[in-house]
Amino acid sequence: MHQRTLLIIKPDGVFRGLTGEIIARIEKTGFKIIAMKLVKVSKEQAAKHYEEHFGRDYYNRLIDFILSGPCVAMIVEGPYVIKKMRKMAGKTLAEEREPGSVRGDMSVNNLFNLLHSSDSPENAERELSIFFNEDEILDYETAADRYWYWEGQER
Ligand code: CDP
Ligand code: MG
Repeated sequence: MHQRTLLIIKPDGVFRGLTGEIIARIEKTGFKIIAMKLVKVSKEQAAKHYEEHFGRDYYNRLIDFILSGPCVAMIVEGPYVIKKMRKMAGKTLAEEREPGSVRGDMSVNNLFNLLHSSDSPENAERELSIFFNEDEILDYETAADRYWYWEGQER
């Protein structure tokens, strides 16, 4: 099922110089990055993006963290991309993270976990519209399209 999702490399990823490695992992899958920018998230954007977490014990820490430096925001598109990118990011809690995932390989802390990845089609569309206008989202062909969209193949 064709979907798009919002990924955000959080400030720890930018400060630690891991943006290239994370973007490379995304590119290798064959999923398509259709929008991307380095952003200083505003308080309003942070509050909207994390509205479902308001009132949690980690909420203030989370907002301070996301405002603490630049982030790389991306929209990634492809078949079942939401579930796949969630798996690539890894579990929320540090103790559950699998080696092989971005979080499992590169972070050990519940809060500082490098990468946001939308968890449902509804949240993906809501979240990506907080960071991007439709005219910032590009339509183009990659070499991987040939294999993703081979005529008659399941997707
Ligand atoms: O990012 P993910 O969807 O995996 O987790 P979430 O439950 O939506 O939580 C959003 C973010 O809040 C996490 O990515 C963490 O940065 C932070 N968090 C935390 O610091 N401590 C927790 N117990 C849960 C979440
Ligand atoms: Mg979440």
